[in-house]
Amino acid sequence: MTRKLLACSLNFALLAVCACVAGIAAAAEPAKGDAQAGRALVYTCGGCHGVTGYKNAYPNYHVPRIAGQNYDYLVAALTEYKKGERAHPTMHAQGESLSEQDINNIAAYLSSLSP
Ligand code: HEC
Repeated sequence: MTRKLLACSLNFALLAVCACVAGIAAAAEPAKGDAQAGRALVYTCGGCHGVTGYKNAYPNYHVPRIAGQNYDYLVAALTEYKKGERAHPTMHAQGESLSEQDINNIAAYLSSLSP
């Protein structure tokens, strides 16, 4: 009787440990942004970067292609523009209005596109 109870509570303890470890693993993953939310945010970027509808708009002056760019690269670039560490008047203005979460969402969306 006692042995059965003990085994049972041991199982519970194991379950709890497993759940906890899974929780830690999930928390350790850096929170990537929400691509769906990012999709709405990049609507205005398409005018210059031509990402709307996955098509390039071929603007008449050079703008780097950002669709399909690497997630971490996008986060770094936008954060640098936001903080003014990377100087460009237009992109600084763009970055300034974005929150960190916006930047993560945008990067999640853009990096999900095929280049
Ligand atoms: C008015 C035009 C314009 C708009 C609107 C615009 N960009 Fe840009 N973007 C540029 C130009 C020009 C550059 C190149 C700047 C430079 O040389 O540093 C650039 C650079 C970038 C880069 C760096 C790319 C690289 O390869 O280093 C990223 C990322 C970027 N833009 C994202 C965005 C996002 C996201 C938005 C919308 C929130 C946006 N841009 C809106 C013109 C624009």
